[in-house]
Amino acid sequence: MVKNANAPCDLMLFGALGDLAQRKLFPALYQLERAGLLAQGSRILAIARTKATTADVREQLFEKLRYHVKDSEFDAGVANAFLQRVDYLLLDFTDPDGYGALREWRDEPNNELIVYMATPPSMYGVIARNMKATSCCNEKTRVVVEKPIGHDLESSRVINDELGEVYHENQLFRIDHYLGKETVQNLIALRFANNLFASQWDQNHISHVEITVAESVGIEGRWGYFDQAGQIRDMIQNHLLQLLCLMAMDPPADLSADSIRDEKVKVLKALKRITPDMMDRYVVRGQYTAGTSNGKPVPGYLEEEDANKGSATETFVALKAEIDNWRWSGVPFYIRTGKRLPEKLSQIIIHFKPAPHYIFDPDQKHLANNKLIIRLQPDEGMALKILTKDQGLDKGMRLRQGPLELTFSETFEAERIPDAYERLLWEVMKGNQYLFVRRDEVEYAWRWVDEIIANWRDSGEPPKRYAAGTWGPVASIAMITRDGRSWYEDA
Ligand code: BG6
Repeated sequence: MVKNANAPCDLMLFGALGDLAQRKLFPALYQLERAGLLAQGSRILAIARTKATTADVREQLFEKLRYHVKDSEFDAGVANAFLQRVDYLLLDFTDPDGYGALREWRDEPNNELIVYMATPPSMYGVIARNMKATSCCNEKTRVVVEKPIGHDLESSRVINDELGEVYHENQLFRIDHYLGKETVQNLIALRFANNLFASQWDQNHISHVEITVAESVGIEGRWGYFDQAGQIRDMIQNHLLQLLCLMAMDPPADLSADSIRDEKVKVLKALKRITPDMMDRYVVRGQYTAGTSNGKPVPGYLEEEDANKGSATETFVALKAEIDNWRWSGVPFYIRTGKRLPEKLSQIIIHFKPAPHYIFDPDQKHLANNKLIIRLQPDEGMALKILTKDQGLDKGMRLRQGPLELTFSETFEAERIPDAYERLLWEVMKGNQYLFVRRDEVEYAWRWVDEIIANWRDSGEPPKRYAAGTWGPVASIAMITRDGRSWYEDA
């Protein structure tokens, strides 16, 4: 159901004064305005529970835009024109009587209707039911929801059922903002537009894959939420498994949402279960203690504001995922993600197998495998490490490893890299679901992650400590070293 992108739409934004809306959604909508992508006649209804007038909210949003949008991209004229599209409605989301005001606001019933629930997931069902009961939506309405979809398989089913009672799957746009990142979409282009890689993408040619999503920040005032979730629910169940799927899936027949999502689901279904007897070798969980971040001392997880001192929630996970299918049999995917690591860095490294017969200097044999490094953020780009002959009369046939390098900011310097939410909102407006997560993806991901969480719970083992500003517990290094490998570090 790909729609005309220029058709005017009415966007109802629940939770419009919350952090996500102010920090990400309004700046993204402003950028769409700046790029001329918001159709004439498109309007936004900001909905929240705070008493305020439209004029107050516009004023507040102007200041937030000025703060969150880069100076070089902020234009007061564009911001003011954009804010003319915004009205404000005070609403108790649980009170069906209040929803009549939503209907009244829609004075162009033919405009496409998008409902964005930037609220806690416990509100999704309530809002959906109230919208239906008051005839505020119909079978063409598109509905956007954020993660977390539940905290395990069972609770995700409850949320999905509640949404499913009102909306068909093809109306639901479940956000995983990693899919909106330009470089993440590039994984699809890299793999399926370059036969060079497509023909090498399997267990015959690849020895292992690393996926690292590191953050230098700590919990950032979200202790209460984070402590219930932990790094496995907050990052692995969604972002990291999505990256793994994009790396591992078979070629889709086309770029349609279901072709891509069908292939991702096959990967999730093929993930090898991590059973209790495998935990020691396959999973490491950590929690940061006091240390340093960007040269400054920072407290440990248990000393953060509002912390419960006895918490055993993990802020770091490293694991070895295996995919039981023909393409990936015997190829481990080493995954790690954590808070308070030395830097913000998301990257994927594909380690290719060495040539079958090696003829160069024996002491250089460890160099003899190509690597493809995909830098998702920051400094987006790719490098293919290849071997060449070292230059100089005295070097003989000594080898040297060097990169074939593509740094997006240098190669495509005029092009601004849009924020993930700009892309995602734009795709919702077009009605294109390929960058959104289907119900079965969410559920298979939970099924795999739930088992690991249950194993932790049953073992009663606390997370391993690591000092803030380091690359996680030593056990995460031991996990990969036992396989005769190491985490990639760019010299
Ligand atoms: C969010 C998590 O989904 O992703 C946060 O809830 C995390 O804990 C964030 O910090 C990371 O996103 P990004 O785009 O900064 O890598």
